[in-house]
Amino acid sequence: MAVVVLDFGSQYTRLIARRFRELRAYSVILPGTASLNEIQSQRPEAIVLSGGPSSVFDPDAPRPDPGVFALGVPVLGICYGMQYMAQHFGGEVKRAGRAEYGKASLLRFEGPLFSGLSGEVQVWMSHADAVLRLPEGWRVIAETDENPVAAIQDQEGRFLGVQFHPEVSHTPKGLEILENFLALAGVSREWTPGSVLEAMLTEVRERVGKDRVLLAVSGGVDSSTLALLLARAGVDHLAVFVDHGLLRLGERDEVERALRPLGVRLRVVDAKDRFLSALKGVFDPEEKRRIIGHTFIEVFKAVAGKEGPFRFLAQGTLYPDVIESAGGYGAAKIKSHHNVGGLPEELGFELLEPFRYLFKDEVREIALLLGLPDTIRLRHPFPGPGLAIRVLGEVSEEKLEVLRRADDLFVSLLKDHGLYDEVWQALAVLLPVRSVGVTGDERRYGYTLVLRAVTSVDGMTADWARLPHDFLDEVARQIPRRVPQIGRVVYDLTSKPPGTIEWE
Ligand code: XMP
Repeated sequence: MAVVVLDFGSQYTRLIARRFRELRAYSVILPGTASLNEIQSQRPEAIVLSGGPSSVFDPDAPRPDPGVFALGVPVLGICYGMQYMAQHFGGEVKRAGRAEYGKASLLRFEGPLFSGLSGEVQVWMSHADAVLRLPEGWRVIAETDENPVAAIQDQEGRFLGVQFHPEVSHTPKGLEILENFLALAGVSREWTPGSVLEAMLTEVRERVGKDRVLLAVSGGVDSSTLALLLARAGVDHLAVFVDHGLLRLGERDEVERALRPLGVRLRVVDAKDRFLSALKGVFDPEEKRRIIGHTFIEVFKAVAGKEGPFRFLAQGTLYPDVIESAGGYGAAKIKSHHNVGGLPEELGFELLEPFRYLFKDEVREIALLLGLPDTIRLRHPFPGPGLAIRVLGEVSEEKLEVLRRADDLFVSLLKDHGLYDEVWQALAVLLPVRSVGVTGDERRYGYTLVLRAVTSVDGMTADWARLPHDFLDEVARQIPRRVPQIGRVVYDLTSKPPGTIEWE
């Protein structure tokens, strides 16, 4: 049972599904042109037609299977979705005079979709075309100053359309509007972390049975939670943690301490020397990544061979990756990553991906239920190639150690000042240039360390974090004092784009 969101390419489609899930209603995204069979296989309780960049006047504009209106479930059209519905049922859409973009206020509104709201309701508009004439029997249920047709519904109130975007945070009461839609559609609200966990445990037990499961853990939230899930399910598993020597201070111990007591069968493989010697003399960032990826697979394969046979390989694939590979309209923008999860098919395992329907924040909720410590559960993202892409140029044990200590100081101070959760990712980068400084009467050449902290929603775009000057000052004083190889500390003011978050 699901709220099926048909994706017509809006940048907000994923948000729509996430909002419904926040409201504890299970929601899935399908391409806008999905077949009726595909839609029905999700047992829809309600359907949403998303917005999108197309115009109903465009002959190639994606259109839903008209059968969606005969399924007997309520349909909510958002933006393009509303215009499509208006046209489909015999109304008239007007080609854009000028686009309406930004904040607007609903001045008049009525009906169950707006139940519980009063006063002026701020909404977010982003559209060009508009509905000019309604289909027969339909009526306007909201208007703004500029827009006499901001929301519409049919006679029975089963088909509804909104010109604005209730899913974005710029529509502060949007969640209530979506909740009203769930209520009028009678959608079940059973998508709680507890019920999701139970369903995943059942699925894992049934699928794995008495067979064996192998998985790689990186110390990140997804793979750690996956390991805990297998342990809780009571299936025969082996979690392999490859210490490639490119980890942060204390990371390996932290992972062991978090997972072992909760029943995870963890094998830590110390492969530091192998990785570091493979990286000797290598300067090019992509070459570093390639070598690390390749060495990782070799090490992992060796463990699999020695400890096997295993029937399953468990991976922490998340829903956004699934949407992306299913190729919805808006999906092209989503970036894929070569995480430890991306092990090649040639390994010959059956894949077990219990998180394939979950968003990252949902994995964090599951992690909480499974007892993953907050140090890992709420941790910033960390790249698979680790500190190797933060020691610019050639990697050496000495430089890694310098960076590890500086990074730990930066992150610890962020935590001490209550700033860690305010930023999306914070990191330190060691530059291969030395600059001059004085300590006492002596001129010294020390490394340059870059501090980088960014705010972001998903890592696709980012802005540099406006950390308080006093805080930066304290970090900049402490680091050279505690890590004397560092002579200079700078703060990176580059946003993404044009910069990336990492330096390599
Ligand atoms: P960039 O540097 O591309 O990073 O702005 C965006 C996010 O991705 C992480 N990142 C990686 N993660 N393998 C990974 O698993 C990589 O090679 C890699 N490169 C970047 C980065 O830390 C940030 O969160």
